[in-house]
Formats: sequence, structure tokens, C-alpha cells
Amino acid sequence: MRLTTERLELEPITADCVDDIVSVVRSNPAFLMLHHGSGERAQLLDREVLKRDIASADADPDLIPLVVRLRETRELVGWAELLVDHPRDRVPWVGLLELHADQHGRGLGREAAQAFLDWARHSGATALRLGVDDGNHSAMVFWTDLGFVPVDRRTRAAPSGPLGVTVLEHAL
Ligand SMILES: CC(C)(COP(=O)(O)OP(=O)(O)OC[C@H]1O[C@@H](n2cnc3c(N)ncnc32)[C@H](O)[C@@H]1OP(=O)(O)O)[C@@H](O)C(=O)NCCC(=O)NCCS
Repeated sequence: MRLTTERLELEPITADCVDDIVSVVRSNPAFLMLHHGSGERAQLLDREVLKRDIASADADPDLIPLVVRLRETRELVGWAELLVDHPRDRVPWVGLLELHADQHGRGLGREAAQAFLDWARHSGATALRLGVDDGNHSAMVFWTDLGFVPVDRRTRAAPSGPLGVTVLEHAL
């Protein structure tokens, strides 16, 4: 799948993107700690782990891992993951949107999010959902600014222990 916005191209992840994705992941240390914990996985989040993750996503037809590139230069500036049909909520989910720290605050996240909403709308879904981990205040501001509203509270197993998650929804 490929999504195009004014400045971005979102296209399938391939194994040769791994080094650039590692740069994106390492540029956001606070998100890395929150998302993967401070333990073994954060330490191990290197090329081999990412390659394994990409391969396992390939095996799941409901998962759509994407890289985010600037259209003008083809520079890889982020990555994302969409879930076609969340098994519990029965609507599509944004599993991940992460941009390189150097690119934050330029409106690129907003463009990608609008493309996700258009994709979900065109697929016939009634809503798009995602989860924001407790502690990720900037992501909460980002998504709610785009019109997402809290609809549920859940807990997920993070490496550091159970972590609270707010489920946000944008009706379509
Ligand atoms: C969250 C993220 C995708 C936002 O992308 P971005 O390109 O930086 O955001 P934008 O420039 O499009 O901002 C859109 C709006 O979101 C809000 N926003 C974005 N970043 C913010 C921040 N750090 N603090 C407060 N508000 C913020 C603002 O309201 C902004 O509108 P404005 O530009 O009119 O002020 C990006 O910062 C990121 O990759 N963060 C690390 C990973 C992460 O937390 N992902 C989300 C997981 S749920």
C-alpha cells in the first residue's frame, strides 16, 4: 500500500530501510524508553530486532508497516504501522507513527495522520482508533488536536510492567 500527501510518501517497509529506521528510533529516546521499556528490548533495539519485526509483520496480512519519506528528496523521515481490523474493536488502528526528531513540528505528522484517516474512510470503516501510552503527553496533544477523542482506558504489558493506555477514536 502507498499513501501520498503534499510532502510525504508512505510506502511498504523493506529490509534495506532498517538502518534509517534505527536512526529514527534512536532520535526519540524518551519514546523508545516509554514504548520498549528500559530493559533488554530497548538495549537490543538494533538492526537484527527490527529485521525480525519486519519479517513477522510481513506474515500478518492485517498489519501494514510503512516507511515515511519526503517526496522531494526520498529521505526516510519516519515509520508507521496500520492495522486493518483491530481484533477487539473491529475498526482500523494506527499501531505506530514515529517521525525523526529533526522533523518534528513541521506539520508532517498531521499530514500522515490525515492520510490515515482518508485511508480508513475509503476502506469503509466507521472510525479510526489508536492507543496513547500514559506519559506520552505530546502524542496526546497531537492526536486530540486532530480531532481524536478518548473512548476507553486499557492496560498493556510493557517490558517495565503494566502500562496504562488511552484509546482515542476519530469517527469517519
Ligand atoms: C507525535 C508526532 C508523530 C507528531 O508529529 P509532528 O510532525 O511533530 O506534529 P505536527 O508538526 O504535525 O503537529 C501537529 C499538531 O500537533 C500538536 N503537537 C505536535 N507535537 C507536539 C508537542 N511536542 N507538544 C505539544 N503539541 C504538539 C500541535 O497542536 C501541532 O499543531 P501546530 O503545529 O498547529 O502547533 C511526532 O512528534 C513523533 O514522531 N513523536 C515521537 C513518537 C510518538 O510519540 N508517536 C506517537 C505515538 S501514539
